[in-house]
Amino acid sequence: MEKLISLAKRRGFIYQGSEIYGGLAGTWDYGPLGVLLKESVKKLWLKLFRDEREDVYGLDASIIMNPKVWEASGHVAGFADPMENGEQFNVMFKTSVGAGEEATTSYLRPETAQGIFVNFKNVVDSFHPKLPFGIAQVGKAFRNEISPRDFIFRQREFEQMEVEYFVKESEWEKSFEMWRQTMHDFAKRVGIGEVHELDVEDKDRAHYSKKTIDFEFEYPFGRKELWGLAYRTDYDLRQHSASSGQALEYFDEESGERLTPHVIEPSLGVDRTILAILNSAYTEDKLGGEERVYLKLPKDIAPIRAAVFPLLKNKPELVEKAREIYKMLKSEFGNIEFDDNGNIGKRYRRQDEVGTPYCVTVDFDTLGETKELEGTVTVRDRDTGEQKRVKIEDLKERLS
Ligand code: GAP
Repeated sequence: MEKLISLAKRRGFIYQGSEIYGGLAGTWDYGPLGVLLKESVKKLWLKLFRDEREDVYGLDASIIMNPKVWEASGHVAGFADPMENGEQFNVMFKTSVGAGEEATTSYLRPETAQGIFVNFKNVVDSFHPKLPFGIAQVGKAFRNEISPRDFIFRQREFEQMEVEYFVKESEWEKSFEMWRQTMHDFAKRVGIGEVHELDVEDKDRAHYSKKTIDFEFEYPFGRKELWGLAYRTDYDLRQHSASSGQALEYFDEESGERLTPHVIEPSLGVDRTILAILNSAYTEDKLGGEERVYLKLPKDIAPIRAAVFPLLKNKPELVEKAREIYKMLKSEFGNIEFDDNGNIGKRYRRQDEVGTPYCVTVDFDTLGETKELEGTVTVRDRDTGEQKRVKIEDLKERLS
């Protein structure tokens, strides 16, 4: 873990929040490479959980909501952890909305889910979806954790990716199973090694849940929760119907019946996903007799897809050709880096350490020193260190 935290800081993935002031417990900042990694994780999640499907809609709700939401949801009464003295401490972050006497107390959302429940009727009225259907949201959540710890594992500000999937009560098990599978597929796609399922016992489940599976990961500090999949029943929609006086119901045309849908909820923390990805990817090995550290990230989520090097910095014709190739690849993929600093071996090591799958080198053969190699470059593979010559016009396909 120490090695990973130090790599994450040194190479611009994750910094301590407010570091120059001694930090702020439970907050972490994503640096340039962390941002790229996080964006690709969210993008892939949206692809699998929303965009490749016909029955899931997007949403981006407010972080600050009417405090009545949190009374109805049960969070004001029950979202608490025990302190050392045994007293219960509500972990919702309080904030004040408005000025002077008008000011009211509200909360920063502790889960994105409630933004979805309060918009259930809006989405039904605009789109008339048939059951089952889902609403997906990615966004920040806040919990005043009593003891934030373990790097980005337990934070006070973090990000969630959640779907509330609305089903007929009789069909909840089928949808639960379907999302369970999707979560395993997602783990595989982002390169998370092994995930374990834990069927959460009655006494440990959240107040709204009839069945929960915790997806757990073997972190360096032990096997702990990565994501959750919960059957929330019709608890939330019923609570909000009763509190708001608005019927959050669904009219089933087939049976001519009004019903309150039940809910299956895959809930994934972005930061814990990143931590599991980095842990799975972190590898130490020996290459060409030398020890090295590299991140074995899948190429679709690696922050830099490829780095382009001129063999020598002080040969303008090499630099010019390398920059031309760099620009071509950058306009195709976006996340391409140019590096002419230090010897080639060092440049490879630097890219290995941040998980760049390919390094492209322009040498004298590229320019025609060996006639039959003119117009080709070397492409080096991160995992094997193998280098192959590839024609410049085939590069885009080779790196795809
Ligand atoms: N809407 C359901 C819900 O919020 P949860 O199990 O409390 O359920 C879901 O949280 C996910 O959010 C967790 O599985 C985890 O990935 C992430 N998460 C929760 N608390 C966190 C924290 N303090 N720091 C980082 N991630 C957290």
